[in-house]
Amino acid sequence: MTSTPTVPAVPLPARHSAGCPFGPPPAYTEAAASAPLTRGDLPGGDSCWLATGYAEVRTILSDRRFSADIRHPSFPLLVAGDREQITATPSFLNLDDPEHARLRRMVTGDFLVKRVQAMRPDIQRIVDEALDTMTDGRTEADLVADFALPVPSLVICLLLGVPYEDHEFFQGVGRTLLSNASTSEQRLAARDEMLEYLEGLATRKRAEPRDDIISRLAVRDDLTPREVASTGILLLIAGHETTANMISLSTALLLDRPEQIARLADPAALPGAVEELLRHLTIVHTGVARVALEDVELGGTTVRAGEGVIAMLSTANRDEEVFGGADRLPVDELDLDRDARRHLAFGFGVHQCLGQPLARAELQIALATLFRRLPGLRLTVPRDELAFRTESFIYGMRSLPVTW
Ligand code: HEM
Repeated sequence: MTSTPTVPAVPLPARHSAGCPFGPPPAYTEAAASAPLTRGDLPGGDSCWLATGYAEVRTILSDRRFSADIRHPSFPLLVAGDREQITATPSFLNLDDPEHARLRRMVTGDFLVKRVQAMRPDIQRIVDEALDTMTDGRTEADLVADFALPVPSLVICLLLGVPYEDHEFFQGVGRTLLSNASTSEQRLAARDEMLEYLEGLATRKRAEPRDDIISRLAVRDDLTPREVASTGILLLIAGHETTANMISLSTALLLDRPEQIARLADPAALPGAVEELLRHLTIVHTGVARVALEDVELGGTTVRAGEGVIAMLSTANRDEEVFGGADRLPVDELDLDRDARRHLAFGFGVHQCLGQPLARAELQIALATLFRRLPGLRLTVPRDELAFRTESFIYGMRSLPVTW
């Protein structure tokens, strides 16, 4: 049975509302309130399904009848421009098994919980040094430029073996690739520059390998230099833009709700508090795209083979039945004592975030250390002057002016 959605198609990606900068764009919340599956209009002129319900999003992400292969001719693209250019050189994020599994397997060992556990002292040192530098002889800082961005960038550079001195280059390129305001020409040029940079790095590391991920990939004979570089781009960008935005948004959100900050000082409550921040903020706020390979019954609707679907993680993460409860605040409020472990902020299924143990460790250490060392942390501008990254596929903050 195919039901007709009752709300008009949502233009994708939708914009955040200035009044409630931490929640999902209102157009998604309104669509979610009307039905678990509605319609969306893509920037290139095509339309697709918009899945907003928790059960539907989980099904889409775990059912092999939905493909993540961006080269599929009707894969829903959230940017306008030349399809062939946009979909060239995909990383394993945008491939299906067995290609996806073959490439992902080569780096899974580096992100296992046990490996990340062993990295905690390094992460703590990087966090402490960033705070030392930020506070040295100063009373004000931009928490994005001085803390939220350097910490995960330094960590991923250490893991990958990418020189941190090049951070302005790779952060700039990353922003172009993640912005839905970039043209396909700008995106293509940025990706080519990045591919060239990482291929060069891999060639040098093949000749002189070190103990890092790019070296380990570069010496393999079963990977092409292109595959090494596209995996490198994915890890480098996913490895810092996400966590950086989570650190700055979480800090701004907590400064707005100071009564909750104390929970971060309790080591038993800290991991759960970070899960709730991940759920509440769901920074991949444009959702994740898939295309149906067969007809699939979903939420009372038939999604036909060849139709695109955007799985909206942010609205799925506000499902009252999954995350609500009589003893808890409503799901659109932050509640650091909520059991948020079933959240979908890291996705679900075979593409579920590879870096989640690392992201969790970084967020726990960065947020607990920041509020412990700077108990007087506060904004230097009115809350309504804060600047958010509304044009990016990964929601975040442009700057966060603070004093302590
Ligand atoms: C708070 C921080 C983070 C969030 C919210 C996040 C979110 C996500 C989401 C939603 C996906 C699934 C995309 C899809 O299904 O299409 C994903 C995949 C991925 N993430 Fe993360 N991520 C974060 C941090 C990281 C870090 C630190 C790394 C480290 C390298 C990383 C690496 C990856 C990779 C490689 C994939 C692709 C996995 C695959 O396709 O098999 N992420 N992430």
